[in-house]
Amino acid sequence: MSSLLPPSTRIWWKQPLDRVEGTWIAIALVWCLTMFFMMPFWHVFGKQNLSNEAYRTTPEAFSRKTQEMVDKFTVRTETDQQIPVVRPPAGSDVYMIARLWQWWPILELEKGQSYRLHLSSMDYLHSFSLQPENLNIQVIPGYEGVYTITPTRAGKYSVVCNEFCGIGHHMMVSNLYVLETK
Ligand code: CUA
Repeated sequence: MSSLLPPSTRIWWKQPLDRVEGTWIAIALVWCLTMFFMMPFWHVFGKQNLSNEAYRTTPEAFSRKTQEMVDKFTVRTETDQQIPVVRPPAGSDVYMIARLWQWWPILELEKGQSYRLHLSSMDYLHSFSLQPENLNIQVIPGYEGVYTITPTRAGKYSVVCNEFCGIGHHMMVSNLYVLETK
C-alpha cells in the first residue's frame, strides 16, 4: 500500500493487527505509563521535582520586586557585568531574574535558613539548574515560581541555564553562595 494512492481495500481499519505492530504498541504504552508514573514517584522520593507555588506575573512587576531587594541588600558586585551580590535577611523572600543571557542578581544565603526563592524569566524559557545539587527548575516568562529552599551545605554553587535559549545559552551561568551561620 502506498500513501500516494487511495487504499486498494477501502475498509483498511478492519484488517487484523500484525503481531509485530501489536508488540510495539504494547511496548510504547508500557514505556509511556512508566514515564508518567516516574514523575509523581520522583516528586515523593527524589530531590529534583520540588513542590512549588506559581503565580502570574509580568516582567515589569517581577523586575520591580527584584530591584527592591537588590537596592536594600546588595553587599558587593561581581564579574565584568557588575552583577550585584545580594545578602537578604534569613527567612525572607528572595528573587532571581533569568534573561538573555544572565542570571540577576547573585544570592548569598545562610546555611540552615529557609528562603522563599522566586524565579521568573524576562523573555524566553530558561531553566534554573543548581550544581552540584542537580536541582532543575523551569523558569517561565509570565509566571513567578516560588520554591521554599533550605541550604544544607555552605559553599559556592553554580547556577546554569539548562534550557536552550539561543546563541548565548552557554554563557548563562552564575553563582549562588551559601554562608556558614555564625
Ligand atoms: Cu537561558 Cu539557556
